[in-house]
Amino acid sequence: MAADNFAGGWLSSPPADGPASGFDPQYLAAKKSIDDRALNRYVWTELYKTLPQTTGGEPANIVEIGAGIGTMLARMVDWGLLTGPTTYLATDCDAGHLRLARHSLGAWADERGYTLLWPEQQRGRLSTAQAEIALVFEAVRAEEMARRTETMGTFHLVIAHAVLDLLDLPAVLPGLLSLLTSNGLAYFSCNFDGTTLFLPEYPGGEEEEIVRRYHASMEARLTGASRTGRRLLSLLQGPGFELLAAGSSDWVIHPRHETYSGDEVVFLHALIATVEQELAGKSGPAPPGLVAWARTRHQQVEAGALTFLARNLDFLARRQPPLP
Ligand SMILES: C[S@@+](CC[C@H](N)C(=O)[O-])C[C@H]1O[C@@H](n2cnc3c(N)ncnc32)[C@H](O)[C@@H]1O
Repeated sequence: MAADNFAGGWLSSPPADGPASGFDPQYLAAKKSIDDRALNRYVWTELYKTLPQTTGGEPANIVEIGAGIGTMLARMVDWGLLTGPTTYLATDCDAGHLRLARHSLGAWADERGYTLLWPEQQRGRLSTAQAEIALVFEAVRAEEMARRTETMGTFHLVIAHAVLDLLDLPAVLPGLLSLLTSNGLAYFSCNFDGTTLFLPEYPGGEEEEIVRRYHASMEARLTGASRTGRRLLSLLQGPGFELLAAGSSDWVIHPRHETYSGDEVVFLHALIATVEQELAGKSGPAPPGLVAWARTRHQQVEAGALTFLARNLDFLARRQPPLP
């Protein structure tokens, strides 16, 4: 299958600049359909049932951390989570991603016959048959949000999707969770949990070392990053929180009749390239056979012969009201 497929229904045109954050928007666009499939439906259903109880009839006030190019907001509308009046603050450290989000959401809204207007650069209004959503985009780091909680307001729901492995959880999580109302919800999805698997088995022991070094590079960036899923499983059962639901959201990609979807091709090539770039002599010598490994795995994508699995976990937690 061709490798130069442009990712997905999501990005309406290729981005002009490279990403400031290191996450390629084409990879994020391709990831959307992979995530759609992977997200844990039990955790999602619990969120769907619990959010209306949490808002208590008030307009839902939602904040997303690391919103990227806006795919979670679209999913929340498409999957019927957002109904009635809602405020959605989408934040990311990369202002370029949020600019792309604005364009992609425009194309997405047009396709569905929704009205999306932007009275101001960072403020939009999305109207669908079910929902009236005030959008606010803010380029801000999660660490800064966790520090200036008194000026951020309070939220019924905080969302972080495929981003918490980039944050120093013990330092940042308490601040982010303090943005919640007393019974507010945290929906933390696609949290990497330590397993990356490529099939068919690679001959020799080289791949084992490559994957081990890849996970070690995450740890070198941030201790615990490669085990974010299980760390959250424990942290979200700590004092002040109730873990309402947890479940797997593994990415599993395999060929069908030796082909993949366009998104899968982009996603697989991006993942292999990420592993190679991460280990190519950045911290010490590259693991033996890295270049040949990446070449073989890219070729297997082209031939429709590669299977990939990464283990992720999803969570829904509630902030418990303080004791009287
Ligand atoms: C793996 S991407 C996921 C994006 C989006 N949630 C998705 O799944 O498509 C991680 C996102 O987090 C953002 N990010 C990275 N570090 C951040 C930080 N410290 N604070 C806020 N956003 C951050 C990146 O710019 C990127 O958009």
